[in-house]
Amino acid sequence: MNILLIDSSARIGASESRKLGERLATRFGEIPDATMCRRDVNQGLHVLSEAHLAAYYTPANQRTVAQKELIKVSDILIEELRTCDRLILTMPMYNFNIPASLKMWQDLVMREGETFDTVPTGIVGKLKHKKAYIIITTGGTGRASPDNMLEPLTRLFLSGIGIEDQTYIHADNLAYNHENSFKAAQRQIDELEI
Ligand SMILES: Cc1cc2nc3c(=O)[nH]c(=O)nc-3n(C[C@H](O)[C@H](O)[C@H](O)COP(=O)(O)O)c2cc1C
Repeated sequence: MNILLIDSSARIGASESRKLGERLATRFGEIPDATMCRRDVNQGLHVLSEAHLAAYYTPANQRTVAQKELIKVSDILIEELRTCDRLILTMPMYNFNIPASLKMWQDLVMREGETFDTVPTGIVGKLKHKKAYIIITTGGTGRASPDNMLEPLTRLFLSGIGIEDQTYIHADNLAYNHENSFKAAQRQIDELEI
């Protein structure tokens, strides 16, 4: 079983979302044939330019060497997703939404013909038979708050690429209720059936 762990916090050692992701990764590590791929989207990604979009929409066998080079990062990230069976996404809430680093990753992996197809009724995701575990940490915005834009957008994004099986783990309100909230998330991770 291939596990892909994606972290996005700007913090490294002190990051609560990364700690919880690590805890879940350790649980998957108990599975005998598990392999782990790690991706820190806070490092080395880029925003899309017009040239990237032109390369995306050039048929693969007609891309220039420069275009192939341009979309190499996107190709690598998509391959990581394609080959994983379980996806762990960790994300702090930044300004009611996902961190910009994670949005860059989304824009790099959401590619027509690669991760979704367009049909007359909308889009159909191509990444099937995968499960996603989404770990969300927040300072003061509760999971049920209407200000929580992060979760509905994440649901939409993942189902857009075909990943319908999504389990959410919240450590919310950490600025006000750290001990209870963090422990509850740890417990949820420890009790997950994986
Ligand atoms: C730039 C920035 C924006 C933030 N925006 C919010 C927010 O909109 N709502 C919220 O509840 N917490 C917000 N926070 C707090 C973080 O979500 C919270 O501290 C979280 O636990 C950080 O996760 P981490 O430890 O993995 O970095 C923000 C933190 C930063 C650094």
